[in-house]
This record gives sequence, C-alpha cells and structure tokens, in this order.
Amino acid sequence: MFDMIEDREFEALRSSALGHLWFPFQQWNDVAAEDGLRIMTGGRGAKIRDIHGREYYDGFAGLALVNVGYGREEIAKAAYDQMSALHYANTFAYATLPAIKLAERLASMTPGNLNRVFLTSGGSDSVETAMKIARQYHVNRGESQRAKFISRRGSYHGVSLGAMAVNMAPHVKRDIFQPMLPRVPAAPQPLPYRCELGGATASECATRCAEAVEGIILEEGPETVAAVIAEPISLSAGVAVPGPEYWPILREVCDRHGVLLIADEVITGFGRTGRMFGVEHYGVVPDMITVAKGVTSGYQPVGACITGDHVAEAFVGGDDKTFAHGYTYSGHPAGAAAALVNLDIIQREGLVENSARMGRRLLDRLTPLKERPVVGDVRGLGLMCAVELVKDKATKEPLSSIAGAAPKLARRLSDNGLLVRVGQWIILTPVLTLSDSEVDEIADIVGDGVSYIEGELGY
Ligand SMILES: Cc1ncc(COP(=O)(O)O)c(C=O)c1O
Repeated sequence: MFDMIEDREFEALRSSALGHLWFPFQQWNDVAAEDGLRIMTGGRGAKIRDIHGREYYDGFAGLALVNVGYGREEIAKAAYDQMSALHYANTFAYATLPAIKLAERLASMTPGNLNRVFLTSGGSDSVETAMKIARQYHVNRGESQRAKFISRRGSYHGVSLGAMAVNMAPHVKRDIFQPMLPRVPAAPQPLPYRCELGGATASECATRCAEAVEGIILEEGPETVAAVIAEPISLSAGVAVPGPEYWPILREVCDRHGVLLIADEVITGFGRTGRMFGVEHYGVVPDMITVAKGVTSGYQPVGACITGDHVAEAFVGGDDKTFAHGYTYSGHPAGAAAALVNLDIIQREGLVENSARMGRRLLDRLTPLKERPVVGDVRGLGLMCAVELVKDKATKEPLSSIAGAAPKLARRLSDNGLLVRVGQWIILTPVLTLSDSEVDEIADIVGDGVSYIEGELGY
C-alpha cells in the first residue's frame, strides 16, 4: 500500500518507528543510523519488497521460517475463514476442529511414538513447555530431584527465562539475566570445523561430543538431570552439522541414565534440512520435539511441543499429575487452520524433497569458495547453509573481528539483491520453493560478495 513512497512520508514513518517501535536484539543507535531502518511491505515467492519498491531475495526467509514462500493467499484465506466462523474459544476448556486436526497431523508426521501435541504460540513457548514437561514428568514418577538441563555451547533455544537458561548462543547475553535456573551444564557443540574436543573428522567430533554429555551427566549425578536439549543442527552455532554418530550416541546416553532427550526442531522442522524433521537424518526418536516457525511458515504464530506417548502417560492419573501449564493462545483456531494449509502445501509441492535437492545445488555452487582466502568452511544440510568467513585460514580467526567487514559485505549483498545475515558466517536459509536458477543467482551474489570483501580488505 505504501510502495514507492515519497521521501517526506518515509521520514515521518522512520521518526515514528524510532520513537515507538522497540526492535528485538537491536541497538537503537544502529536502527537510527543512516539506512538502518528498512520497512517491508510485500513479498512473493523467494522475494521480499521494501517500501521503496525494491525487491530482494530473502536469504534468511524471515527468521528461517518462510518455508512455503511469501504471498500464499491460500493460507491467508484459511485463517480468514476460520476467524469468520470462530476466531477463538477458551483453549483450556474446549477443543476446536482445526486444533484437533493439527494435533493429529503433527502426530502422524513426527517419527516413532511422538503422538501427544501441546500447542503453543511460538518457539520459546514450546521450549519452555518442553522443559516444564520434563520437570513434572520426573516429579510425577517420584524423581523430583531431577531438575537440571544440559545444553550445548552456541545453541539457541529462545528468550523466556527457562528457554534463556538453556540458551548458549552468545548474542542472548544470558549472564545479564542470571540467576535463572540453578545450573545449566554446557556440553560441547559438535561442529567439525571447530571441534572443541579436537576431533579430526566429523565422526570423531560427533563421538567425542556425544560421549562428553555422558561425562557431564555422571559428574552432575544422573539422579539430578532432567533432560538434554539440543537442536539437530544448530543454526546459531553456525550451522553445526554433527557427524552421523552424534544423535544415536546421545539417545543411548540419555536412555542409560533415565534422562529425557529434547530435540529443538524450531528451525530444522518442516523440511528445512531436506527431511521433514532434522532428527530423521540420524534415525533417532527423541522423547520430545519442539517446533514453531515452519509449522505455519510464519503466516500465524504457532508452535508445539510434541511428546512421546510414554511422556504423556506420566501425566495421567489424579489431579496431582495434571500438567499445570497453558497459554491463552495454545491451539488458536486461526493459527491451527493456517498451519494445516501450510503443511498441505509442503507435502503437496514436495518441498522437503526440493529443500534436499536445492540444498545440494547451493552447497555445490558455494563449496568452491573454500579456495578463497577469506572462506574457512562451507557447510550445510538441505536449505540451511553457512559460509564461514575467516581473517586467517590457519588461525580461523573470524573475519568479523575486522571492524566494519561484516556490514560492508552485507551492504554489497543487499545492493545486489540478497538480504542475508552476515557475521562470523553468511547464513543462508531461503524459502524451500527455490528453483535451480534462483539458487544459482543467490550463489553468484554470494560469490561476488566474497570477491568484493577480499578486494576491500586487500587480500
Ligand atoms: C532452535 C530454536 N529454538 C527456539 C527458538 C525460539 O523461537 P521464538 O523466537 O519463536 O520464540 C528459536 C528461534 O529462532 C530457535 O531457532
């Protein structure tokens, strides 16, 4: 509606935004800087359009969630129809048709006995829910001392206090909010390029990192540990794709010590990695998975914690067993209706398979960049990919330690029509509908960006 806006009107909107709109994770000074504010007004397919009418590939697909692409009127219509019929009903007391269908659908899509679905309105809520389920699961089974969660360095799990406590991505600044949970032991991240435990191959790194979790459980005392939480592939740790041994060993370790295993699939779920769920690459069924983002591709705010039957059964009995937890918007009917159509599209259009195919193509196109002086590694799975930028290949010091390098590169990419997150890595998580030519165009823009930044920095 505001496309091709006059400068004067843009300035008025900018001033209003700077005065009133608080941006998550952003420093106000950065937003206030020249060109620091972008206002988006439209999107179609893989591209998003700003208020000046400029179109860009959205290399991050929103926040790694617009799986089915922009502009799906079918989803908007489903939400509209549901809101017209019944936009809301007391979600603590009543079921609605879309909520029932969505729970059944998610149960049928997830592996193994993951059949019980607690609906939420986002990823942090889903993680918070999983953590509270884990705590009460042990209490209900007479093991109330199992209160600790184990997380991994670099992992991101959300921003509510419980989710923050297991959040180990540096940008969340968790220390500011201490004390949160009593103690959250940190396990190593199975990132082969920078294996903390010195593993020389992906397999060696995976085995050492998974075995280290057992070491932590034993050190803490297994009777005090509630759960291990981990993303199948951690985006915040720079798209850390573990070797094939990691998840099976983690499963065995958790089973051996009566510890629940939570797979946080908020980003990896619904095709992002070329399988419906990230854990499917590893043939492992966790006790719970948390999802959000791709369940609606962002058309509505919906999430879920999906638990194994054995977990849900621990909550059946007298009132003391009831899970004392819920959100006003758990199972919101319009959200559930949007999710159902979004999932239809993912399945009908074969977007999981497309993610696998286009992900391979993207990786093939980007891998030659490894020969360049500022690229330390290129890795990914499905349409979740990282180009790791280094100042020095031998020391692996991040290129982002050179002041201004990352913003300069981001600017070049955006000038060429690609919006993407640039820091220690160029992270690419585009929409799952990409075509061959779109993949090639994105890869060319990234290649140009790498050449440009090398030139600017005098490599
Ligand atoms: C793995 C993971 N878990 C949880 C969250 C939190 O989700 P939300 O931002 O919807 O609260 C995120 C968000 O990026 C995430 O990537």
